[in-house]
Amino acid sequence: MNGTLIDLLERRSPSRAIAEDKLGRTDIEKLMHAAQLSASCYNNQSWRFLLLTEEAALEKGRKALSGGNSWAKKAPLLIFGFSDPDLDCRLPDGRDYYLFDLGMAVQLILLQATELDLIARPMAGYSPSTVKREFNIPDEYEVYVAIAVGHKGDIEELDERLRVLSRGDRQRNPLHKNFYYNAY
Ligand SMILES: Cc1cc2nc3c(=O)[nH]c(=O)nc-3n(C[C@H](O)[C@H](O)[C@H](O)COP(=O)(O)O)c2cc1C
Repeated sequence: MNGTLIDLLERRSPSRAIAEDKLGRTDIEKLMHAAQLSASCYNNQSWRFLLLTEEAALEKGRKALSGGNSWAKKAPLLIFGFSDPDLDCRLPDGRDYYLFDLGMAVQLILLQATELDLIARPMAGYSPSTVKREFNIPDEYEVYVAIAVGHKGDIEELDERLRVLSRGDRQRNPLHKNFYYNAY
């Protein structure tokens, strides 16, 4: 590790192998603190996170995970990110910023977790309605992301498909596909 930001970004683990060991309170607080330092439109800080650490709460959260995300059931910390469009900038031309700002805060959680040598994997594969029902989250909120967090586990315990994905190199587009210099 050489301590640069790029090094941290490159170290973010592709692994779905998460150990069941509990996380320390200090580490969880660092994840929350990192998210709180995020930029947001008009400093609205519209992100909301439900953190599940106790067994009964985790069990309720696991019910929401899709079959393809069963690996995440081992995670000692499940986070659900949610927000409400009215909590953030809504511009007259139709631009809403609540999901943008939620995503910015999620990214900081992923990076802080990486610095702590933890795995933190965002997921869309879960049922938002189950999360809302199990935790009595009011109607106006949209539950938009789940994050499985934990210490690194044993990749050998995953099935073949996930073992390959968990060891995989990062696949990224060539820069020209995503970036335009000076003209579109
Ligand atoms: C919005 C979003 C939804 C995702 N949903 C899932 C998911 O349901 N299950 C999963 O294993 N990974 C999920 N991922 C992780 C992506 O598959 C992963 O970020 C992508 O393949 C790039 O790999 P890398 O993050 O290891 O570089 C999701 C990521 C994002 C940002």
